[in-house]
Amino acid sequence: MPNKNPRILIIDDDEGFCRLVSNRLERSGFSVVSAYSAAAGLEENAASEFDVILLDHVLPEHDGLSLLAALQSRSNAPPVVYLTGTQDSRVAVAALKAGAADYVVKDLHGDFLLLLENAITNAMFTTALKRERERAEAAVRTARDEFKALAEERALLLREVNHRVSNSLQLIASLLHFQGDVSGNADVKAALKEANGRVLAVARVHRSLYTSFDVRWVTLSEYLASLIRDLEDVSGGESSNSVISFSGAPIQISPDAAVAIGIVTTELILNALKHAYPNGRGQVRVLIRLRESEIDLLVEDDGVGTQDIPPEKKKRRGLGQRIIAGMAEKLEGALRYEKLSPGTRAVLTFPLGDHIRVLESEKALT
Ligand SMILES: Nc1ncnc2c1ncn2[C@@H]1O[C@H](COP(=O)(O)OP(=O)(O)OP(=O)(O)O)[C@@H](O)[C@H]1O
Ligand SMILES: [Mg+2]
Repeated sequence: MPNKNPRILIIDDDEGFCRLVSNRLERSGFSVVSAYSAAAGLEENAASEFDVILLDHVLPEHDGLSLLAALQSRSNAPPVVYLTGTQDSRVAVAALKAGAADYVVKDLHGDFLLLLENAITNAMFTTALKRERERAEAAVRTARDEFKALAEERALLLREVNHRVSNSLQLIASLLHFQGDVSGNADVKAALKEANGRVLAVARVHRSLYTSFDVRWVTLSEYLASLIRDLEDVSGGESSNSVISFSGAPIQISPDAAVAIGIVTTELILNALKHAYPNGRGQVRVLIRLRESEIDLLVEDDGVGTQDIPPEKKKRRGLGQRIIAGMAEKLEGALRYEKLSPGTRAVLTFPLGDHIRVLESEKALT
């Protein structure tokens, strides 16, 4: 039994038929309005809300199918149960195709009334479900739009934060640089220059993040290339002959891993510039090599080589080595030195993990 007094509009020019249907439906708790012409039906439909419309197929000045289209043109139109006096299934099919919720074939004895009541109840139920689904879908769409707006705002804020962090770190790097400039002591100058390079390595990661659309990933080759440019600037004047070259596999890494790799690269380049060429300057090559399940960071020079260093100096574990060891541990990697003739190759090997993604399935450079 339907909930309280659903409103039914019946559009049929047969007044006796309308009375028969009204009496039956009112006994079952429906409230029924009859319209004996298409124009009267359209007027009633426009003037108030109905839960279901019963529409006759044959109307004097209108055929039921075109009236069906007109009735459904308003928003939230009620479902229409199509009434036909013919058993011709083509009429029923046409009505269903035109959007009728159901159809019922009239008969002279009123046996169809039970079917009609069922059709009305089903049409109401289906329409209620449809509207509920539409409401739920609209709510999902709104929630999705809100979430997207929030995510965009969050990404914007993160970029802004990275911008500020990067600026602040570059300011610190500049202060160290100026401090080195004004110092009369060569060791202090050198130490502050190295500290400047270390801070720039971290600042560069934040710069990569605020210029990228996805703050979760840093493109390693771009990051290291710009880091190397910074280091060339830092060691500029004295190293006019030194050339730092770079080639890298197409990978992206998390910001934390980028900081670790950047710091190790800085230390190894500074070492090559500082120790490999005691009588001048030479080449330093930086490579990122992608292997099956590991990545190698290589920093090579054609200098004096580590074996040419006096034993007492080799034993010394400088700040640089300690920084490298700490960062290698963070990457779950290990550093080794290989002797070249001439020169030194430092190789940091670390495993591929969730914090690294390969952009192309390209095997890297040697
Ligand atoms: N590419 C290289 N060629 C020759 N010698 C090197 C090279 N890299 C490192 N060394 C030697 O290894 C030593 C240890 O390096 P490490 O980076 O720990 O210390 P550092 O560079 O002397 O000082 P800092 O702590 O400021 O880095 C260096 O002093 C240097 O003698
Ligand atoms: Mg060093």
